[in-house]
Amino acid sequence: MSAGPADFEQALAETAAAVDATLDALLPRADGVEGRVAEAMRYATLNGGKRLRPFLVVAGAQLFEVSEPSARRTAAAVEMIHCYSLVHDDLPAMDDDDVRRGRPSCHVAFDEATAILAGDALLTYAFEALSAPETHASAAVRCELVRGLAVAAGCGGMVGGQMIDLLAAESTLDIDGVTRLQKLKTGALIAFACEAGAILGEAGAEARAALAGYGHDLGLAFQIADDLLDIEGSEAETGKAVGKDAAAGKATFVGLLGVDGARDRARVLVDRAVGRLARFGDKADSLRAVARFAIARRH
Ligand code: IPE
Ligand code: IPE
Ligand code: MG
Ligand code: MG
Ligand code: MG
Repeated sequence: MSAGPADFEQALAETAAAVDATLDALLPRADGVEGRVAEAMRYATLNGGKRLRPFLVVAGAQLFEVSEPSARRTAAAVEMIHCYSLVHDDLPAMDDDDVRRGRPSCHVAFDEATAILAGDALLTYAFEALSAPETHASAAVRCELVRGLAVAAGCGGMVGGQMIDLLAAESTLDIDGVTRLQKLKTGALIAFACEAGAILGEAGAEARAALAGYGHDLGLAFQIADDLLDIEGSEAETGKAVGKDAAAGKATFVGLLGVDGARDRARVLVDRAVGRLARFGDKADSLRAVARFAIARRH
């Protein structure tokens, strides 16, 4: 993969199509009385997300000559967790958002109870898919993937970050507080996506640490870009409501540093993320390109 923006967009689209096909094959189909929950799982997943986390898994896996089916299954599991998090994030009890990826949010298209169950089912199904022998021949590798994803998604990761995000509306966080919030809420899953290829490829500790560092910086920068889009983007571009964070009292880098300060911070983080890839040479060009994209994107 080359680093040029046009080539990168094409590579992202190709990876998205491949991971969509894997998700389509893996996800249960509506059947029986309970089929409605499978329908809601598919609705919340097969709906045109950017597939940035899957791209990170696949691009990381390419550094270590991991087989494509292994990488794609792992990418699909990470995306299931991400999609579950969006379904629950949009619920009335959380951000109360009616539009997601340009369509009615899951709880609007179905109902709240079904959306909660679809989120629960995506969360658990991710681990079912990841732990299956088709993901990797080594049970130890599968176990490490399952553990890493659980840590990233759980109360020491994304769920913990979502808790702070909700509580922060009632308090004031300083820059360290917001950094921790974003690291947990968004950074942990993105960092796992970056490390997953190294786990699949049974890479050495130094390569793994480099990818984890890249992922942590990128994850923070990615959430800053999301917060900037909430102020500067449009619903037509982002496929979701904008202008909500300040009104809801959300603690963000934009709120603390202003638009220019937040953009500078994102740029510094991306430069640092890219700097961590030196040891991988040209093979990491697609990871360099995705890092640039993460903060230049309009959606
Ligand atoms: C949105 O993530 C939620 C955040 C964690 C910031 P994405 O911007 O990756 O959303 P999709 O998957 O492309 O819809
Ligand atoms: C969501 O952050 C992070 C998750 C873990 C789902 P946001 O609430 O800012 O994401 P959007 O803007 O609704 O996509
Ligand atoms: Mg939220
Ligand atoms: Mg939200
Ligand atoms: Mg947001």
